[in-house]
Amino acid sequence: MEKPVTMMTERETNKNYRIWIRDIKADTWVKESYLVKSKRSMLTKKGDPYLSMILSDKTGQIEARVWDRVEELSAQFKEGDVIQIEGYVTYFKDSMQLNIKEIRLQKGEIDPSVFLETTSKDISQMMKELGDILGGIKNPYLQSVIDEFLKDTDFMSFFKRAPAGKNLHHPYLGGLLEHTLNVMKMCNQISELYPFLDRDLLLCGAFLHDIGKIKEYQYDLHFDYTHEGRLLGHLILGISMLEEKIKYIDKIPKDLILKLKHLILSHHGEYEFGSPKRPKILEAVVLHLVDEIDAKINGIYRFFEIDKNNGLWTGFSRVYDRFFLKGIIPEEDELKNDTGLRLQEDLFNRT
Ligand SMILES: [Fe+2]
Ligand SMILES: [Fe+2]
Repeated sequence: MEKPVTMMTERETNKNYRIWIRDIKADTWVKESYLVKSKRSMLTKKGDPYLSMILSDKTGQIEARVWDRVEELSAQFKEGDVIQIEGYVTYFKDSMQLNIKEIRLQKGEIDPSVFLETTSKDISQMMKELGDILGGIKNPYLQSVIDEFLKDTDFMSFFKRAPAGKNLHHPYLGGLLEHTLNVMKMCNQISELYPFLDRDLLLCGAFLHDIGKIKEYQYDLHFDYTHEGRLLGHLILGISMLEEKIKYIDKIPKDLILKLKHLILSHHGEYEFGSPKRPKILEAVVLHLVDEIDAKINGIYRFFEIDKNNGLWTGFSRVYDRFFLKGIIPEEDELKNDTGLRLQEDLFNRT
């Protein structure tokens, strides 16, 4: 196959030039290093082996395939490696696909900031806001619980760096802090609207609800679940981290500890979303709802951002099981021309 338009020319004159994934266009030839987010050995309908991969850098991810010399190229790398690739980009089923011809494992020092996305917000500013809200907690026992975490410098450095998810929401460095702060801010406002809520309990629960994520994920060069993350999950990990801290607090009332644990354990709301218990006090109901609001707003917003569909509608989201409207509906009925959407609706049998 003849090489399409190259994206290499600029690199040849500028050593710092990088082909970021968000800038990759169809019908171009790409030579660049990317992180292997996933790698699967597959068979075509004819029974020929191929590799199906997702490559990423901090600006996004792209589907990639290896069709030729599969065994030879596959032997050179594994998931989580950074590889130098050469290949051409095509448009397939409404998304970009990188068809790789050459692969070389990147050795030596790798700069994680190239491959891991980081929160766009200022971490010290977020920490200040978080400290201000927590500083308003009056219950001395809850204040002691919070202090145990705040003075644990190892915990805090992981808490500031961890993502809040692998894919779904806030999947970037600093994402856990950003998400936790949003949840705390909303809980703070809700407790003003509904003064019968136990504001201190709600805010302490908001701060601690996802702390188990610092152990659920690994986030050194790429995001993945840890063994304890897969086997226990962040709800149980969070409870055991809390139990470790309350050992140091004298005479903490049983009622308070049980409720705080319940807030952590029930914040996913339903059994099918991983909560071993459904919320059974009002503060736990509020925490669950607020957690879902922040997770969904971030997740759907990011889906819009990475969507490459040209029409009025996004591509189909398997996670949210729908298309989203992303443009302004014209006065003239031009929707009939949105053939891309019609094709996708046929494909997924959804509207
Ligand atoms: Fe959670
Ligand atoms: Fe959360």
